[in-house]
Amino acid sequence: MFNNLRSKFLSLQFRIIRRSVITILASFPKDLERAIIFGDALNHFLMSTPLKYLFKFAVPKNIEVKMFDLKFASPLISASFKDDVSSLFQWQLLGIGGITYKTVLKDPSKGNNRPRIQEVRHNGRYGILNSLGLPTKGVKKFKKLINNKKLINFGRPIGISIGGNNVQDYYDVFNEIHCTLENIDFNQFFYELNISCPNTSDGKCLSDNLEGLESLLLKMRAKTSRPIFIKVSPDSSREEIIKICDILEKMSFVAINLGNSKYMTAKSLGLNSDNFSKDGGGLSGETLFDNTLEMVKLVSSKYKFPIIATGGISNLSNVEEVLNSGATIVGMATLLVSDPLKIPQINKELSKND
Ligand SMILES: Cc1cc2nc3c(=O)[nH]c(=O)nc-3n(C[C@H](O)[C@H](O)[C@H](O)COP(=O)(O)O)c2cc1C
Repeated sequence: MFNNLRSKFLSLQFRIIRRSVITILASFPKDLERAIIFGDALNHFLMSTPLKYLFKFAVPKNIEVKMFDLKFASPLISASFKDDVSSLFQWQLLGIGGITYKTVLKDPSKGNNRPRIQEVRHNGRYGILNSLGLPTKGVKKFKKLINNKKLINFGRPIGISIGGNNVQDYYDVFNEIHCTLENIDFNQFFYELNISCPNTSDGKCLSDNLEGLESLLLKMRAKTSRPIFIKVSPDSSREEIIKICDILEKMSFVAINLGNSKYMTAKSLGLNSDNFSKDGGGLSGETLFDNTLEMVKLVSSKYKFPIIATGGISNLSNVEEVLNSGATIVGMATLLVSDPLKIPQINKELSKND
């Protein structure tokens, strides 16, 4: 009862502060990234003071989900989109079942020019359009962060999302990280291959090269028994998804993540060229849900490997629908920035279903 009231009170505070910060910092000129930078700094401060305990919620034991040797404290996980430790730490305090780092590439990159991230409405639903273009520290810097005790001490699965411009890039990033993980005494890591990339310069990615994907998976499997998730795009057709699933079916300890953000032009979402530096980017948020659910139903009706349902998850009923349709766990990005206090609320409701 008390925890329920606490989460609802904090949720209200969070949403008021978030909206005020966006209005003051990100409206003139319109650039959501300014609000994000401020919000991240504020959160970093909060998480380094005793105030962080305000965000600590116990996860009900009966909602733990096992996938291979991974033990997710809850079926809710953070999708790959952030690598700042304070955010990942805060979501773990709130009760997220596992986390995924933002996609790491071989070489450092600043991504695209700003403004490259904005709030939008699509079919009346809230969303975020981003053309970040995969900014990354690069694998050499990233691998030094992996052994982060603050995150590891939760004992929950941690995903490493890998991207690249070609098969060799993916393998090189994997190999660097694999060598680092070998020396870390923590067995809850998993890999995720981000094979869909609405934001890269040439728009090409591994989902266009399925032979390359298969050979990469075989090479990775020869080196590691850690689970590998393949994250696909909502822009892929049903036929393309099926072809990817046919490859996965032959592999062990793999799962499919359905899916990434969806390519949309900025103009179609009412943004003008002053507010968005590229023609378009990846749309995330509520509007993706119908497609996510459809894809979960399609894949679960034909294949046995686990499914992570990502895209548009915004409330308890979305979570229940994808879980009841065959997903094992549920990835979330936009909801975690708009109302992360939903995590303990959804966890509590899920625990009643047992
Ligand atoms: C700002 C932002 C950055 C993202 N960066 C990545 C990324 O680096 N790698 C990735 O696989 N997906 C990335 N995504 C996609 C999310 O992981 C997620 O798949 C997508 O947003 C759909 O989920 P949602 O509707 O819950 O936001 C990003 C999304 C957003 C909003």
